[in-house]
Amino acid sequence: MNILVTGANGQLGNEMRILAKNSADRYIFTDVVDASEDSIAMLKKLAGDDINTDIEKLDITKLDAIREVVKREKIEAIVNCAAYTNVDAAEDNESLAELLNAKAPENLAIAMNEVNGLFVHVSTDYVFGGDPYNTPCKEDQKGTPTGVYGLTKLHGEQKIQATGCNYVILRTAWLYSEFGKNFVKTMLNLTATKPQLKVVFDQVGTPTYALDLANAISTIIEDYKKESLTINNEPYTKNGIYHFSNEGVCSWYDFTKMIADYSGQTECDIQPCHSNEFPSPVSRPSYSVLDKSKIKETFGIKVPYWTESLKKSINNLKK
Ligand SMILES: NC(=O)c1ccc[n+]([C@@H]2O[C@H](COP(=O)([O-])OP(=O)(O)OC[C@H]3O[C@@H](n4cnc5c(N)ncnc54)[C@H](OP(=O)(O)O)[C@@H]3O)[C@@H](O)[C@H]2O)c1
Repeated sequence: MNILVTGANGQLGNEMRILAKNSADRYIFTDVVDASEDSIAMLKKLAGDDINTDIEKLDITKLDAIREVVKREKIEAIVNCAAYTNVDAAEDNESLAELLNAKAPENLAIAMNEVNGLFVHVSTDYVFGGDPYNTPCKEDQKGTPTGVYGLTKLHGEQKIQATGCNYVILRTAWLYSEFGKNFVKTMLNLTATKPQLKVVFDQVGTPTYALDLANAISTIIEDYKKESLTINNEPYTKNGIYHFSNEGVCSWYDFTKMIADYSGQTECDIQPCHSNEFPSPVSRPSYSVLDKSKIKETFGIKVPYWTESLKKSINNLKK
């Protein structure tokens, strides 16, 4: 199969590259700029010098450009790892966030619909939050975003569904990887350089290692391949929205304690604090846990516990 990955320079996009190395499928990695030297060095460290680090420039806000690459490369599936992901900055950049998180996924979905391909898209737990909940939330819970980022991601989900394409939307949360900027890398730096640190304990959720999410995407693509070989031009029977994070629940404080523990940086005195000590333009839900029953039952995906994945990622970063 010919598979296009967008946002290949991001956290998830880079993990997709690592999996693609041993795949029988042909992957084309795209983004708006070339890969950074840091990312290329990390890719080589984790996957060897022969890893594909090529980037084809593709701006997913341009439908004609997407159509051109889909036609030229005979693309049969798109994995969209591109997004406007800065939650706080989105409050002052609503039109750009809407363009990248809603219009651009619609473009990709239109392009896949035209060739009867599969569109795999990534969304977020931030589509919820306005109506507080205290048990893990299922896919059909009503979206109630509290900020621009969540709202534009919700619009993206709706626009994809309206195109009528074959789609799998994966809502995830608290994403981290060895690539780019994320909470794990920030806390590794702070716990190594500060004698004391306060971290909120009144917001709980589940971290997600981007490599585990990439693995789930690979499993879905394999499933789609099996089905599309047998069913001609029929909709994919597993089209829908699914939740994916690692297993378990923790607060940002617990997450930080484990990061410090696994990295061996135990000198820093890490203390729990309340969210109101770190005011932010967007209110975050105190409980934001995704129920993953549907993805596990539908695709037989086994989800690693969050501390096991964290340990692997930190070991990679320490290499
Ligand atoms: N990060 C989280 O905690 C989190 C939580 C829940 C859900 N998610 C979702 O998970 C997905 C992957 O997130 P991530 O953290 O891997 O994202 P990321 O690291 O921010 O990567 C996104 C990539 O998209 C690129 N991009 C920006 N504009 C583009 C355009 N017009 N055309 C093509 N590419 C463009 C970015 O390039 P530049 O950097 O040059 O702009 C970047 O390389 C996203 O859909 C996100 O909403 C993330």
